Parts: sequence; structure tokens; C-alpha cells
Amino acid sequence: MAIHYEAQGRTALIRIDNPPVNGLGHSTRDGIVSGLRRALDDSGIDAIVLTGGNGFFSAGADITEFGTPKSTASPTLNEVIAALDAADKPVVAAIEGTCLGGGLELALGAHYRVATTGSKLGLPEVNLGLVPGAGGTQRLPRALGFATAVDMITTGAPRTAGALAALEGQRLLDRVVEADAVTAAVAFAGEIAATRPLPRVRDLTATGDPAAAAPQRAALVKRSRGFLAPVAAFDLVATAVTTPFDEGLAAERATFTELVAGDQSAALRHAFFAERAARKIPGIGADVRPRPVAKVGVLGAGTMGGGIAMNFLNVGIPVTILETAQEALDRGLGVIRRNYQVQVDKGKLAADALEQRMALLTPTLDYADLSDSDLVIEAVFEDMDVKRTVFTKLDEVVKPGAILASNTSSLDLNAIAAVTGRPEDVVGLHFFSPANVMKLLEIVRGDRTADDVLVTAMALGQRIGKVGVIAGVCDGFIGNRMLNNYRTAAFALLRQGATPAEIDSAIEGFGFAMGPFRVADLAGNDISWAIRKRRYAEHPDVPREEIADSLCELGRFGQKTGAGWYDYNGRDPQPSPVVADLLASYHEKHGTKPQTFEPDEIVQRLVLALTDEGARILEEGFAQRASDIDVVYLSGYGFPRHRGGPMWYADRVGLPTVVAALHRYHEDEPGWAPAPLLARLAAEGGSFE
Ligand code: NAI
Repeated sequence: MAIHYEAQGRTALIRIDNPPVNGLGHSTRDGIVSGLRRALDDSGIDAIVLTGGNGFFSAGADITEFGTPKSTASPTLNEVIAALDAADKPVVAAIEGTCLGGGLELALGAHYRVATTGSKLGLPEVNLGLVPGAGGTQRLPRALGFATAVDMITTGAPRTAGALAALEGQRLLDRVVEADAVTAAVAFAGEIAATRPLPRVRDLTATGDPAAAAPQRAALVKRSRGFLAPVAAFDLVATAVTTPFDEGLAAERATFTELVAGDQSAALRHAFFAERAARKIPGIGADVRPRPVAKVGVLGAGTMGGGIAMNFLNVGIPVTILETAQEALDRGLGVIRRNYQVQVDKGKLAADALEQRMALLTPTLDYADLSDSDLVIEAVFEDMDVKRTVFTKLDEVVKPGAILASNTSSLDLNAIAAVTGRPEDVVGLHFFSPANVMKLLEIVRGDRTADDVLVTAMALGQRIGKVGVIAGVCDGFIGNRMLNNYRTAAFALLRQGATPAEIDSAIEGFGFAMGPFRVADLAGNDISWAIRKRRYAEHPDVPREEIADSLCELGRFGQKTGAGWYDYNGRDPQPSPVVADLLASYHEKHGTKPQTFEPDEIVQRLVLALTDEGARILEEGFAQRASDIDVVYLSGYGFPRHRGGPMWYADRVGLPTVVAALHRYHEDEPGWAPAPLLARLAAEGGSFE
């Protein structure tokens, strides 16, 4: 049974009991309606309290039912809510813990709501490319007003009952208590049992002025970059102000039905399940337990070391951070403190929390202070000799059983592990910059890395709020190896006649936050120039990236020099006449005629460059599954989430079409062939996922 029913005096208590999150699957919905009927038929009952348990009122729809007949089988959530709404005895929702999506819609269908202050209420459907589909877009603005409802529904971010109860004029919560909402709701039900007529959220008038919010809508359209759900949600919330309830409800249903069947929602559901799948490591069973990690050491207090340390301080894990000189240590600690101070200034962190976190951080110049760490993460210079020296020392001082991790982004982890007497304890933990912000964590599995070390890394990643993905040891691991191919495709377009602005605007139209040339200007063109010069010196026959090199010879390193692929007025990029001249003289020198490219072709060339390299990585065994590659791109590289990732996207395009397009793009390159796995799957009618 997904529902418990009991009478407490003259009040019926209907408790949802569908672990782990009280999802509103078919049997739960059916149970609520049966419980309601029983209470309504019982002359000994005057009022009904609906609640959950185990920390959840309800986290909403059962996502595994999506797209199956069960999701639309009667009673649907709309029918359950209509039944609550129509009940002639008062229904009180007692909210504790999580109350999201369909859970909040259910609560909005009750006549009254009692909640604990800390409970979390929200409509996160946009995160799955959807709008609330059971009246949420129509009832929430009636309870909270247009402005608050728009914010909650278009962002999907939950708020606490305490914060919502403090909003002026709110009609969502009738009573807020510190603890035990059920007891409070039963008492409340006793007080209002005889009150008639029963209040219904649907009968309220939504306050606010959608017309005045036109600029806000325009900004949302821009920010969403083709992602439909937030804008659709905005319009539905506006409908709540301007049209009768039943009309708004019908409009919501129509939009929901369209979105749930569309590509964007399918992509976002894929992303959700892909992140879960990424945590599973084939061949490692649940019997392999993580090692305890109560104390962390970090080597290097530079850009990455500082950010990495913050992740652990944020969750209360003490960190000892080691540098080679006091000055570097002071600088690193100063940056960490300043980063926290920014959060305090923005009201996102309490001032005493800042001090508590800093108090967990121990600076040192002495390796002996790392001896009792359970995990040490190295983030020193990207230089094999330096890394070797550091790991040799760590091997000498750090206690047995501790995990030794490297944040290297390009060096051979196996070679690093080999200088220690315990290569099974060595793993790569590849954070992304800024390390305290970026979600992705590539967990690099060396040839000898022990299973429980991988399990520990995965669990720890989750503990610090990262999305962990297992990668094998290859140049650039998963993400940067693919990025290299993407950049190569962007430079090829440039040589063939596209401009930086055309390329960036096409891929930004697809949904990336920034195109490759704007990213390059932000990161600094001098950094990639230095890498290229080193490569030219080591391999004299590698082809020169002529246009990029000439740009750097002009000192156009990007935003920091006020000029790069664009001219800058502050941070605002403007197409540059200097770059136009540079491109023109390239074509003159080589006798080439610049071609014009449609935005769609630019997008295909860049995205399919990612897919092609992803297929190689997958076939060579450096990624565990295609969906892991999608997770890397979605959480670390700004790939638009509503497009599902480069592998998912290619499946939607159709692999034979992908292969044909790749052949077209590369027709001038002798010997080029698509990734063998890609070619094979296309020929067999297969797919990545
Ligand atoms: P950084 O130059 O900002 O910081 C390196 C720090 O290590 C410096 O403060 C330096 O004083 C210290 N250091 C050097 N030798 C040391 C030693 N023997 N013992 C203790 N400390 C030592 O460099 P960044 O950017 O933080 O990079 C560190 C590592 O992270 C590199 O392996 C890099 O490839 C990797 N990485 C960098 C990313 C980035 O975006 N910057 C992204 C992902 C990985």
C-alpha cells in the first residue's frame, strides 16, 4: 500500500508512504482518492489531513512513469486534485520536508496548508523541460501573486515555508510551525472543521501585472537561448492573472502535453538519468565500500588548489594546504577568504560561517603536516618533474591507506602513480575552473587504481556537490580531448571563410553560453599560443594555426589586453576590423575564396566534431558509456542541457545523417574517416544510447 489511513478522533489522516521520495505514481494517486472517499463517506469524520513522511510530503510525479500508460491512467494527478478541491469536508495538507512539483500541486488542491518552517516548496518542472501540469501555473500565482510565482516556476528553485510565509499577502500557507506539521494540522482541522464555504485556491484572484513584466519576459527569452519551458511557464502564469481558472488550466494542459512529447524534455530526462548512471561503475559491486575521508590535504594554493580546498571546507571537512613558500600560502589563503567574502556580501553566506570555514583550513610548508590526511589532492604546476617529486614525497610521509590524487589536466596519471610504492591508491581528480563552482569532476582511473579508491572518489564527489564521471588515462581525458576537436573545427571554419562572430553567434543560438572565440578571449589567447609554440618546437611538422598565431603576434590576447578575436569596450565584444583584415590577408596569401556558412551548418560542424571524438573515446574504452560523455559536456562545458549532450544529440539527428555530414565537412582532408564506432553504428542502424 502506498497510502496509510487512520482516524484521529473526528479527523482522518491520509499518509502517503511511497519510498524513497513519495513519488505520485499511479498506485499512490489511486490510494489518495480511495482514502478521500472513505473519509467523505464516514459520518464519524469531519476533516481530512493529507501528509507524507520520511522527510517528504512528496517530491512530485514518478519520473519513471513518464511516457508510459500509467502516467495518464485514471486517476491522473489532475483528477486527484479535482477530488480534493470538490470535497465537502475540509482537507488540510500537512507539509514536512520536500514538497515539490506534483507534490506542491497536490497541496495547492487542499483547502488549507500547514507546514514546518524548514520544509521546501517548489515547482521544478522546468528542469525537466516541462511546465507544471496539474494546475501549478494557475494556482501558485493565485496563492502568491504573479511575480513570486513567475520566479519560482521559471527558475524551478524551491523556497522554504518560512520564507514564503513571510511574503506579504501570501495565501499559500495557513499556519507555519517549527516542527510536527501533522499534529499542528490535526489541531487546525479541529478548529476549522465546521467552517463553510471551504476556501479554494482556484477561487482566488491572482495579483500582479504581466503587461508591466514585458521587459522581464524579453530578458527570459534571451537567457533561455531556445529552451522553451521557462518562457512557456512565464506565459501560463500570466494567463492566471488574465483569464478564468478553467481556461488557464486547459492552456496549461495543452502546453504540458506538447512539451512532454518534445525533444527538449526527452533530452533533459536523459540528462537526469545519465547523471545517475554515471555513478555506477561496471564491475564494481555494492559490496565495495568507500574509504572514510575525514581529513583532506591539498598541494598548491594556486588557482585550482584554493578552489578545490573550498569544496571540502564547505561541507565541514578540515583541509591542510601546502605550498613551497609563505608568500604563496598567504596569497592563496587571501583568495579563499575573498571568495567567501563575496558570498557574504551577496547575502549567500553568513559572516560566522565564513570564519568557521576558514578555521577548518590549516596552511603549512611542511609535508609532515599531511601525514594523517585520508586524501591528498595535488594541484601544483603542470610539469611532470614537479609532480614526480611531489608524489615521491607524499609516498614517504602520508599514512598507508590514504588516497593520493592528482588534478593534472594533461599528464599521464600512470606515470605519476609509478613513482609511488602504492599506485593502487593513486587516482586523478580533475576539477574544472573555478573549482569551487564548476559541477564536473572527472575521476581518472589509472591502470592500477583500486576499486575502493574509485568508489571513494565517486562518493566524495557527491558529498561536495559534484557530478562525477569516470575517465580513462588519455590525452585530455574525456572533456578536453573532445574540446580539442571542437576547437579544430572552429579554426577550420575560420580558414574557410566564417568570422568569429558568425561562429560564436551560431553556436550560442544553439544554446551554448559562449562560442569558442569569446571563450578564447576570456581565457587568454596567450595561453593556447604558448602551448602551440611548445608543440611546434617539439613536432616541427605539425601544421601551424596561422590565423591564431598572427592574432597573438599583434598582442591581442583577449579581454585582458582589451582586444582579441573581438575588440572590447569593457566586457562587450565588438567585431574587429583588425581581425577582418587578418582574415582577408590570410585568404589573399593562400589564394582561397572565403565561403559563406549558414548558422545551422556551423552548429553541425562544431557539435559533430564533439560527437566524433566522443565516439573514439568510447570505443577506446576511456569513457564507460555514451551517456557519461553527455554528462561531461552538460556539467563541465556549457553544452545546452535541453539538447541532451553531443552523443544524445547525434542519435536524434540520426547516425547515418551524422556520418554523411562528417564526410562532407572533411572532404578536403586526405585519409580522414569518421570514428570507426560511429561508422559501424550508422551502418548497422544502431545508436549510442
Ligand atoms: P597555479 O600556477 O595557479 O597554481 C599552482 C600552485 O602550486 C602555485 O601556487 C605554486 O606555488 C604551487 N606549487 C608549485 N610547486 C609546488 C610544490 N612542489 N609543492 C607545493 N606547491 C607547489 O596553477 P593551477 O592553474 O592551479 O593548476 C594546478 C594544476 O591543476 C595543474 O596540474 C593544472 O594542469 C591543473 N588544472 C588547472 C586548471 C585550470 O583551469 N587552471 C583546470 C584543471 C586542472
